[in-house]
Amino acid sequence: MNVVCIGAGYVGSVTGTAFAAIGHQTTIIDIDQKKIERMNRGESPIYEPGMEQFLPALIGRNLFVTSSYDAVAEAQVVFIAVGTPSQEDGTADLRYIKLAAEHIGRALSKERFTVIVNKSTVPVGTSELVASLVEEASGLVADKDFTVVSNPEFLREGYALEDVFFPDRIVVGTVQPQGLQVMRELYHNLIERVGYDQLSELFPFSYHPQMPKATYFETDAKSAELIKYAANAFLAVKISYINEMARLCEVLGGNVRDIAEGMGLDTRIGKKFLQVSSGWSGSCFPKDTAELLATSQKYGSEMTVVKAAIESNERMHLHVVEKVVRKLQSLNGKRIGILGLTFKPDTDDARKTQASYIIQKLVELGASVRVHDPQGMAMFQSLNSHLKVTYCREPLETGTRSDAVILLTHWQEYQELDWEAMYPVMRRPYVLDTRNYLESARLTALGFCYEGLGLST
Ligand code: UGA
Repeated sequence: MNVVCIGAGYVGSVTGTAFAAIGHQTTIIDIDQKKIERMNRGESPIYEPGMEQFLPALIGRNLFVTSSYDAVAEAQVVFIAVGTPSQEDGTADLRYIKLAAEHIGRALSKERFTVIVNKSTVPVGTSELVASLVEEASGLVADKDFTVVSNPEFLREGYALEDVFFPDRIVVGTVQPQGLQVMRELYHNLIERVGYDQLSELFPFSYHPQMPKATYFETDAKSAELIKYAANAFLAVKISYINEMARLCEVLGGNVRDIAEGMGLDTRIGKKFLQVSSGWSGSCFPKDTAELLATSQKYGSEMTVVKAAIESNERMHLHVVEKVVRKLQSLNGKRIGILGLTFKPDTDDARKTQASYIIQKLVELGASVRVHDPQGMAMFQSLNSHLKVTYCREPLETGTRSDAVILLTHWQEYQELDWEAMYPVMRRPYVLDTRNYLESARLTALGFCYEGLGLST
């Protein structure tokens, strides 16, 4: 099929690449000229495991990247995968969606039926909005000349290719017959894994043909739009729940790791997303919980569970700061090292991370802060220029004359760090591991004062 994907961000670049990989003629359209040039050289616009193998293999063959909307006229399917950042009141800013819809409308062919697909996470009713904007710009009629389908993306950054090629489910929101038919055809090779044996050489993970197949789930557009918010908010609630258990363990005793394990053995609960942290963050959960809450409030049906999870999450960020204060008493004149600035490992995405919140508080309390991240330093620095911190090339430098080192993101590199070399450079060998990730016994044996979250002592 002939596919266009508007937006070369975290979702669009991976989705476009995957559709090209399963055999569709794919064009990614973006306004950022630098990104376009990079991709055309076969380089990934983002740090995402596997993209550096896939792009050179596909670019110029059946994957094209451009700023021109010309390819829209030839396309059977046009994805919208642009950003939907939060506004002040929590609701999603649809500026880029509207712009994409207008551009698509102007470029749309009058000769053929086109399916426009919302991949971005968008509030309920956005499919209708896009349809009316496209009608206005094109003079065509929705559901006669084109249709708009909701097909939310569930990929996680860091595992994006695995999630795209092996999704648990594909949710397709439309009741329009041509839309239904085109979407089934579009996903056929992905569901049936056509050509996966050849592709497996490029996968950044091991492929077993017996891996469970994706469930293809059809519903109406509004339900599909809501499924995405419902899923993300539910996962955020799940993490907040275990993080609160960790706080309770710290006052009652008990080990949150075992609690998560014991809870997760109940198949109704499951083990995933019960890993303690200083709070969930990133460009999805904070944005999507805020949008769901704001919309529910606007319509007089407040989702109090989501509201509680948001409050609990902020409390969790603060809890980390309080723990350091308890240990070091005053932070005035203290030096603190931070390991990890991204919201999770294996990504360079440092938007809306817990690190910026926690570092800001530490600096306010008088600490000087030294930071390191394997991939996210450039983005973190550009988004947090107001934060006066020292950026370290090597993780060990965060410990230089420091009174504490706090691990915020569980990059494997930090587990493999030469902790023996870290010990003598620190002024006070206190390590706070907010992911309960490091080898605590080894660190303690080396002489560190090791603390995790919610671990019995
Ligand atoms: C999330 C969802 O998991 C995806 O399904 C969804 O497609 C995506 O948002 C999106 O809306 O685009 P992502 O934000 O990439 O994916 O990252 P997650 O792996 O879900 O992690 C989110 C946050 O929760 C991170 O800060 C992570 O460190 C934290 N987390 C995750 C925990 O603290 N504990 C856990 O057990 C799991």
